Amino acid sequence: MSNENKTILEIDVNLICEFFLNVKRQGPGSPDVTLKALSFVDNLTEKSLIADLGCGTGGQTMTLAQHTTGHITGLDCFPGFVERFNYNARELNLQERVKGIVGSMDALPFEEEGLDLIWSEGAIYNIGFERGLNEWRRYLKMGGYVAVSESSWFTEERPAEIHDFWMSVYPEIDTIPNKVAQIQKAGYIPVATFILPEYCWTENYFTPLIKAREIFSQKYPGNKTVEELMKFGRHEAELYRKYKEFYGYVFYIAKKVK
Ligand SMILES: C[S@@+](CC[C@H](N)C(=O)[O-])C[C@H]1O[C@@H](n2cnc3c(N)ncnc32)[C@H](O)[C@@H]1O
Repeated sequence: MSNENKTILEIDVNLICEFFLNVKRQGPGSPDVTLKALSFVDNLTEKSLIADLGCGTGGQTMTLAQHTTGHITGLDCFPGFVERFNYNARELNLQERVKGIVGSMDALPFEEEGLDLIWSEGAIYNIGFERGLNEWRRYLKMGGYVAVSESSWFTEERPAEIHDFWMSVYPEIDTIPNKVAQIQKAGYIPVATFILPEYCWTENYFTPLIKAREIFSQKYPGNKTVEELMKFGRHEAELYRKYKEFYGYVFYIAKKVK
């Protein structure tokens, strides 16, 4: 299909997807953090069924797979990410128990009460934290776990510039105690929370994006969508540098109890 036949949205989505295919991770995180979160999850066996929602190209999924023995389904709405996910699984010889599928986290293709663990790093915001916790719960077995990372405020108050930025991109950002209360209200026991270290943002996310931006700008000179995307990325990194003591990603691990 030529670009003329595609809607602007399709072109934008494809460009965004292509851009993030140039980096290992599509959000802040690290293998150490994935394993720390996993250490709070009990009772996984080779029969366990795990879903990684908004898996991207599977950076964290492959780490999970190398430290668990059950079956993992990675689900993402971008076919390009899922294709790369399945390629990565094959490269690591994990294809028998790690499969990527295209789908949406607001219409899960799993059996009710069928999953032992729902994982989602930096992605639940796409459906919203409370809505995701409430809707995904029905797919978990009793005693099953949910483990998600989510942007959160570290303080009750913060400078207007960073407050306004987050209100415009994700107004559901909240403090850790408020997020924990939402977990409890949704029918889980909050098991653990911890803040992702700074290197998850800087070394593992923002730094690889600098190189990716250079390559992309050279490939698409003068493209307005690309320019906007690059500008937003630089702004996001600059805000983090300025205001990192006020916000960050927090991992929340919880157990379904009713
Ligand atoms: C910030 S990225 C995080 C990716 C990956 N979990 C990581 O940490 O590297 C968010 C992911 O959510 C996916 N996504 C967005 N909306 C979605 C939806 N409705 N259903 C499934 N995936 C979605 C995006 O395609 C993207 O891969």
